[in-house]
Amino acid sequence: MKIALIGKNGQVGFECRRTLSFSEKVLYLSRSDFNHDYNTLKNILLKESPDFIVNAAAYTNVDKAESEKEKCFSANVELPEMLSEICKTLNSSLIHLSTDYVFDGKSEVPYCENDEINPINYYGETKSLGESKVVTSGCDYIILRTSWVYGHKGINFVKKMISYAQEKETLKIINDQFGSPTSARFLAQLINNLILLNLNGFGSNAGIYHACASGQTSWFEFGKIVIEDSVPLIHKKVKEIIAVASTNFKTVAKRPIYSVLSTEKLSKTFNIYPPTWEELLSFHLEERDWSIIDE
Ligand SMILES: NC(=O)c1ccc[n+]([C@@H]2O[C@H](COP(=O)([O-])OP(=O)(O)OC[C@H]3O[C@@H](n4cnc5c(N)ncnc54)[C@H](OP(=O)(O)O)[C@@H]3O)[C@@H](O)[C@H]2O)c1
Repeated sequence: MKIALIGKNGQVGFECRRTLSFSEKVLYLSRSDFNHDYNTLKNILLKESPDFIVNAAAYTNVDKAESEKEKCFSANVELPEMLSEICKTLNSSLIHLSTDYVFDGKSEVPYCENDEINPINYYGETKSLGESKVVTSGCDYIILRTSWVYGHKGINFVKKMISYAQEKETLKIINDQFGSPTSARFLAQLINNLILLNLNGFGSNAGIYHACASGQTSWFEFGKIVIEDSVPLIHKKVKEIIAVASTNFKTVAKRPIYSVLSTEKLSKTFNIYPPTWEELLSFHLEERDWSIIDE
């Protein structure tokens, strides 16, 4: 069994380095390993011929994507397109990650996999195009749409809240956007389990799956709990946390108001039941030795 993981320095890629160790050989690749050149990456993959390719690489800066369109398109559309073609050629299986931002956020109930997509920012648009490249390639694949990802590596909401709580006396957090915060650790374990459950490929279970924590919350509630639960670990300066409407925070890219994903298909197909977002957060905060984990 050989696995190739692309995007080893990202939040999810980094966690995969802790979970995929069951495999005899895992090729962990970052852009520096292929000189930022997809042709070089293609040659490496064709030569190594992995059984599974895990694509944890993406352009994920939602606001910058509006101005860095070429970079975003290349990572979110051209890369998955190339990886799915490679999988087809090698008869390998692809696990590709996508996002809740393929939806417009107008729903009032959790989105299912076959609900209509309608991205409202360029990042979401490229991620949905990336999905369709994978789907139409004819390769054996699973696409995992996830949401509100945080981990020990990289920049994320949890880290920002913890550092703001130590620096500011008053914090304003948006209370009118809803989603399911999901740890990179959970996603890495899920990827690991999906490979173990499907060693011969995904076959009739190939398709798109929603993969996030169960339950839902707002950024405000999430931020408040991050700060409350991390108090034993930090010197807290913040005295007041104020809930505000998203109209108070002008961002370059629009965000969906509601992007909760239903994980029923994942549970029904693979008997995998995601923990609640509170459980994932609490596990994440308990892994206290952040200085060692975060390079
Ligand atoms: N972050 C979120 O809140 C969120 C929410 C929903 C879905 N997702 C999806 O989940 C997946 C993983 O997200 P993440 O948060 O782990 O991402 P991340 O921390 O931003 O990491 C993405 C990694 O992709 C690689 N990368 C960046 N630009 C690239 C490019 N132009 N070409 C090739 N590789 C590039 C880099 O890895 P190397 O330095 O190793 O090359 C980077 O560390 C992505 O598909 C993302 O769309 C994320």
